Amino acid sequence: MDLGKSDAPIDDKFLTELTSFDGFVLPTVYKELKKQIENLEVSERDVWICSFPRSGSTWTQEMVWMIVNNCDFEGAQIPIYERCLFLEKKGFRVYDSSGANPIEQINNRKDVQKPLVIKTHFTFKSLPKDISSELKKPKIIYVTRNVKDTCVSCYHYCKFIFDYRGDFSEFCELFLAGKVPYSPYWNHVMSYWQMRHNPNILFLRYEEMKSDLGGVIRRVSQFLEKPMTDEQIEVLIHHLTFETMTKNPAVNYTALHEPLRKVRPEGRFIRKGRIGDHKTIMSLDMQKKFDEWIESSLQDTDYSM
Ligand code: A3P
Repeated sequence: MDLGKSDAPIDDKFLTELTSFDGFVLPTVYKELKKQIENLEVSERDVWICSFPRSGSTWTQEMVWMIVNNCDFEGAQIPIYERCLFLEKKGFRVYDSSGANPIEQINNRKDVQKPLVIKTHFTFKSLPKDISSELKKPKIIYVTRNVKDTCVSCYHYCKFIFDYRGDFSEFCELFLAGKVPYSPYWNHVMSYWQMRHNPNILFLRYEEMKSDLGGVIRRVSQFLEKPMTDEQIEVLIHHLTFETMTKNPAVNYTALHEPLRKVRPEGRFIRKGRIGDHKTIMSLDMQKKFDEWIESSLQDTDYSM
């Protein structure tokens, strides 16, 4: 799959570093990780957070980690990328500087009783064999978001992290054509949507977290069988607001991304956190193109946005 020569002719290094694996677009270096991930030792105690990139996974990670760890605010001062493991971290050179290999950390865990919170952007079928074959059923939370807002957020992220040089409409074309990391988008969402009736799978939406964070926290605490008091929920809501998270160095990735901020100072990992942000940047023509694509992609499904 030649991702460098798309219909949108742009000179972008990050695109040429992508390859197709099992029909999904991933960094070429993922080749080295594929077997290890397939054969990962899965524990049913762990909680998996899965999403298409930029759908609210960090927000969900922080919520889940806090619920699993009885709202341990002291422990939560450790950077989120150390507390929660990003499964394919090694595939992204930009994260390599922090050293540890999550796959080794999972396989060589010392305390087998302690649940890990693991994040991945892989599709259901690309998860470790034990999970994709449904032999093991750890709790899995999938979070999704309005696809146009996701595309906007991915665009800013690719500019910041991968030095994407194309303009926004070129990025939209790549997104629609399934040529950005982890796409095709709908195959990703559908791989989890089809599994949502399994009792170990919970499907969340970013927009619901924005409109009723307390309700989502209650639902997640029930799903994880970790009861919480009303007081704990109130404190956690405050901890998870956009305003609090954007200032919290343990979750805003500022330290890890400092070298990138030197060259691209406008970049932010936690950026705007808004519903409908696409309306500020996406032309009406492009919105229409997305609407048609959404309609045709979802016509034989019971998924609604
Ligand atoms: P924007 O780029 O639209 O601001 P992920 O963690 O999966 O990469 O998703 C990142 C998106 O979630 C970014 O969206 C980020 O700002 C948003 N986000 C992170 N924390 C948030 C919070 N507490 N409230 C709302 N949005 C949040």
